[in-house]
Amino acid sequence: MGMAKLYCFALVLVLAFGLSSSARVPRGREHYVKFINNLSNKVLNVNCKNQKPYIDLELQILLPKEEYEFKYIVGRDVAFSCDLRHGFTSKAFPVSDRAITRECGGNHCNWKAQDDGVYLLNPKTNQYKFKFGWGK
Ligand SMILES: *[C@@H]1O[C@H](CO)[C@@H](O)[C@H](O)[C@H]1NC(C)=O
Repeated sequence: MGMAKLYCFALVLVLAFGLSSSARVPRGREHYVKFINNLSNKVLNVNCKNQKPYIDLELQILLPKEEYEFKYIVGRDVAFSCDLRHGFTSKAFPVSDRAITRECGGNHCNWKAQDDGVYLLNPKTNQYKFKFGWGK
């Protein structure tokens, strides 16, 4: 390869890399959190909050098979947690920490509420994994 050709090749590489990396990591990455009510014929209440800054996404009432999704911009202090309730039982848990977002593949976390507890979708296997039982 001549020097000019080599230069060209290097330039193309730099451009391609620059473009793809800026496309992959845009400023203010968005994450999505979705809940589906798969309780047997019961209403599911979902209330998600962030502490700093304080954001209350307000109570969402899901009929059987209904879904609710919210999104947030990933940031250092962002720590959403959600409180799921039905009848007299509830479970509150974090939804935006690193361990969870790694487990659900990053940008889209899909939670499912069932009579026996709360499940999280593993996108690699496309199977829901049991995460939490209901409190008393
Ligand atoms: C919903 O729950 C029932 C058991 O209560 C289960 O058989 C079914 O597979 C669940 N549906 C989904 C989409 O996970």
